[in-house]
Parts: sequence; C-alpha cells; structure tokens
Amino acid sequence: MQAAVTAPKQRSTIFTYLLAALAGLMFGLDIGVISGAEQFIQTYFHISDNYIEWIVSSMMWGAATGAAGAGWLSSSLGRRRTLVVSAALFVIGSLLCAFAWTPEALVAARFLLGIAIGVAAFTAPLYLAEVSPQETRGAMISMYQLMITIGILGAFLSNLWFSRHGEWRWMLGVIAIPGALFLLGVLSLPESPRWLVMRGRSGEAQDVLNHLRTDPAAVEREVADIQEQLKIPQRGWHMFLQNANFRRSVFLGIGLQVVQQLTGINVIMYYAPRIFHQVGFGVNAQMWATVIVGVTNVLATFIAIAFVDRVGRKPILYAGFLVMAAGLLSVGTMMHMGVLTQGEQIFTVAMLLVFIVGFAMSAGPLVWAICSEIQPLKGRDFGIGVSTLTNWVANAIVGLTFLSLLNGIGPAQTFWLYGGLNVLFLLFTFWFVPETKGTSLEQIERNLMGGKALRDIGQ
Ligand code: BGC
Repeated sequence: MQAAVTAPKQRSTIFTYLLAALAGLMFGLDIGVISGAEQFIQTYFHISDNYIEWIVSSMMWGAATGAAGAGWLSSSLGRRRTLVVSAALFVIGSLLCAFAWTPEALVAARFLLGIAIGVAAFTAPLYLAEVSPQETRGAMISMYQLMITIGILGAFLSNLWFSRHGEWRWMLGVIAIPGALFLLGVLSLPESPRWLVMRGRSGEAQDVLNHLRTDPAAVEREVADIQEQLKIPQRGWHMFLQNANFRRSVFLGIGLQVVQQLTGINVIMYYAPRIFHQVGFGVNAQMWATVIVGVTNVLATFIAIAFVDRVGRKPILYAGFLVMAAGLLSVGTMMHMGVLTQGEQIFTVAMLLVFIVGFAMSAGPLVWAICSEIQPLKGRDFGIGVSTLTNWVANAIVGLTFLSLLNGIGPAQTFWLYGGLNVLFLLFTFWFVPETKGTSLEQIERNLMGGKALRDIGQ
C-alpha cells in the first residue's frame, strides 16, 4: 500500500522539480541563441558593430530590469503566477524577435525577452529552494545550473542547423516552442508552500506539501518551521543602511558577480562564431566549433558538482582562474602571431576550450553558490537580489563592449586584457573570498556579524 502511494507522489515531485529547472534551460537557450544569429543579423540589416552590441546586450539590460522587479512580483503575485507571467513573456519575446522588422524592434523584443529571463532566473531557484526537502536542496540548485549550460548547448545546436541557410529569424523564433512547453508546464505547478504560509494560507501550504512529501508528520513540522522562520522579518535595505557588517557581505556578493562576468565567459557565449571567424573558420566550421564549446561547458560543470563539497570552494576557484588565465593569454598570443595553419587554428580553439573548462568547473557554479551562502538570514533576499542584479549589469557591459574592444585595441590585446583580469582574480580570491565548505550558514552569519575579515567568515 505504502509503495503504491509513494510512486505517483515521487513522480509528481520529480515533475515539479523538472519544470522549475526548465526555467534554467530557457535562460540558457536565450543566452546561447544570439551567437549564431548576430553575424547574419548584421548582414541583413547592414548595421555597425556598435549596433550589434546593443542588440546583444539589450537582453541583459532587460534581465537586470526583470531581476530588479522580480522580488516584488513574486511576493505579491506568488511564485507560481510569476513563473507563468515570465513563461508567457518568453513566448511573446521570442516571436517578436523572429518577426522584428527593424533593428530597433529587435532591441525592444530582446529587452522584453530579457525581462522574462530576469524574472525567471530569480523566481525559479527561489521556488526550487522552497519546495525541495532540506536533504536535496544543494543538488536541486546544481541541477538548475546544469540546465543553464544544457540550454546554451541546445541553442548552439539549433544555430548549427539554421545557419546552413542563414535563417536567423528561425534561430530566434524556434525558442518559442520550448517556451510554450514551459508555459504549459508551469500552469500545472503547485504554489510554493512558503509563499502560502506568508499569506496566512497555512492550510493550503499543508495540502501542497502533503502532495509532495510522503510523511504527514514531517509536513506538520515543515509548516511549523516555515511559520517560525517567517517571524524573522526581512529588512534588507534598512539593514544595509544601518549595519556595516551586512554591507560587507553585500559588497562581496557584488564583487563576486562582477568577477564572474569579467572572466570573459560571455564574450565566448555571445560571440564565439565571430571569434572563430577571426581565426579563419568558414560558417559551418564556426558553428561546429561553437557546439564543441557548448558541450565542454556542460561536461566541465560536473567537475564542480563532484568536487565542490569535497575539495572546497577556494582551491577550485584558484585552479579555475589559473586555467582561465592560461587559456585566454594563449588565445591572445595566437591572435598576435597570426593564426594561419590548420594546426594553429586547432591550437587556438583548444585554448578557448581550456578557458571554458576553467570557468565551468569554478566561477560558473561557485559564484552563485557562495553568493547565496554569505548573506545573513534577515538580509538574504536583499543580498542575493543585489548580487543577481549585478550579474546582469556586468553581463550587459561585457556584451556591450567586446566588439568595440576588438576594433579599438585589437583582438590579441582584448584577450590579454581578459587573461590579465583572471590573474587579478586570484588575488581577489585570496583576500576576500571565504572558504564556506562544510560550515553552517548560521556560523557564517555569526562570523560576519562578529566583524571577522571576509576571508575568514567561513571558519
Ligand atoms: C553565468 C552566465 C553564463 C553561464 C555560462 C553562468 O554562471 O552567470 O552569465 O552565461 O554561466 O555557462
């Protein structure tokens, strides 16, 4: 009898997680799609590199806007309805991109799509953390990260297919299909129990949890726990103004996200085919090489998942920044010497892949993890909100300046610049980043509030 009850329950639980994680897939698809389309868009509209930078980065400005409003939206509408709104925007935004009649319309459509991503990228992990049982929470968030990289790869593969005839409208529009599936899926999600309790609807929260969990006594305890936790008021902004120790953790979150973006990862995610064009690849080879970038990005994420709780955050970050610096400095040197032979082309691509491995095994997933670990409970929503917003703004600035850098200081110097920054990030890690492996969030909070140096708050 017990088994018969458990099986459908497990299925519906898995379905819930899978759907929320699909938001990560949508996020990745939209990050990845532009790289294959932008060169065709440039030819089609006869626009400058600078205009292309605006088309690429308009999505990130939209995402920053979406992330800024997502906290308010998800607490007033509820997590589920917020996800529904963002899924609808995904579909509408993708279709508007496909039918954009002018470059201005494309900028506006990508801004709208960005809002969908910003809202979903804030709400989905929040929802996942609120519906997952304690024991699997870490794995759930890692799965979300993995879905982002799988989404990026999916977009690279679809770009490969549509690039045969330069069909950039199809590249951008086809994302509406997974968007529509996501929309259908989120319509069937249950509301987050935590949000229901927040709204004084504890009975409904209990129903949802009974649907997701097997042990009714544990459900009672969980509802009581949530009620207890909610007694601690979230006073982020107020606390930011009043408490110098909290300001330190907020600035560390901002710093970590700026560092993550200034590694240069999205230069590759948005412009990989163009970079491969620079080293002499034809269209088909550009798209294939980009697919290999996507596969490497997915696979190397598993290195982080496997080692983060064993080896710790800091050693992985050191290794990652070293590997990234080596990769980018080598790419710069190859560009400086001139990539002429096939052997040189292969070496350059290999060095770019080395960079991707460095990012995906370290700063990619770890920055998100550390940002959520360092904030004290009362200011957690505020602190994570600010660092997420920073991620998008820094992301937009990188997207907005890459082609100008290539044209201004030259390709070799651009890659050296990013390579050099990764060397500096070794120092940033040494001085500011705490080792949080195996330390409870409560201990981290006590250390922070007790005035310990940031790099020591994990001990
Ligand atoms: C970053 C994104 C990036 C992605 C690449 C994420 O952790 O925040 O900006 O595009 O990794 O896999």
